[in-house]
Amino acid sequence: MDIRLLRASDIPHVQQTNITNLPENYFLKYYLYHALSWPQLSYVAVDLSHTPKHPNEPPKIVGYVLAKMEEEPADGVQHGHITSLSVMRTHRRLGLADKLMRQSQKAMVESFGAKYVSLHVRVSNKAALHLYRDTLQFEVEKVEPKYYADGEDAYSMKKDLSFLEEEVEEDDEVGACCDHDHGDGHHHHHHAELDGDVPPPKEREKLKTVRVGRILGVSDLQEVDGRSGGA
Ligand SMILES: CC(C)(COP(=O)(O)OP(=O)(O)OC[C@H]1O[C@@H](n2cnc3c(N)ncnc32)[C@H](O)[C@@H]1OP(=O)(O)O)[C@@H](O)C(=O)NCCC(=O)NCCS
Repeated sequence: MDIRLLRASDIPHVQQTNITNLPENYFLKYYLYHALSWPQLSYVAVDLSHTPKHPNEPPKIVGYVLAKMEEEPADGVQHGHITSLSVMRTHRRLGLADKLMRQSQKAMVESFGAKYVSLHVRVSNKAALHLYRDTLQFEVEKVEPKYYADGEDAYSMKKDLSFLEEEVEEDDEVGACCDHDHGDGHHHHHHAELDGDVPPPKEREKLKTVRVGRILGVSDLQEVDGRSGGA
């Protein structure tokens, strides 16, 4: 099993995985919006043991996390948000969701200086609650009544990410910065590729909030009341 960054070519397969596993589904352009705006934050789990039947067969995606940065945080604090997470039934309880979540959290801090990460989860979703609350140490911030289209309540959950700041700084200091595959089949040196895009850690506090994605015309896809649905 391989956990790697989401590529644009994965999107139809991720959408299929989402439709199979969750009632909260999105237009293709909403996935693309994530991939274009925050390419560091969304990951897929690929089953490498699967033998392709023909050379052009797409990778077998068995799980994904779709994540973003909150564009206009109500509290003024830079933070990430998990839009959607799921793992195929055949590949559950192998630790994939845990790994996908940790990768995304780390990237939120590393690339965007996120202070915390938030998400929504159905109050009845035992598996996801175990993962978020017990395994990943998220805390329930509040209950959002009738958050989901079928009337179910959501827990609004939050996890502080300051514990990752030190880890990320240490990585920077030893120059142990990772090679990320950015979806074109090549590996790029992380900092080199992000030149002009993400400043080095010391300059992060100077970051200004910029609006992204508006020209894609997707703002209407985000649910009313600033809710982004999904996970
Ligand atoms: C929730 C979900 C993503 C978990 O994926 P997964 O890859 O099986 O999770 P992991 O293997 O990483 O397990 C993480 C932890 O959750 C626990 N867990 C997983 N499934 C569980 C279940 N059905 N009941 C109780 N605990 C469960 C694991 O035991 C593990 O706990 P541990 O750290 O104490 O050992 C998966 O069940 C899923 O896709 N469900 C449908 C979609 C969904 O609900 N998404 C979340 C929307 S908010």
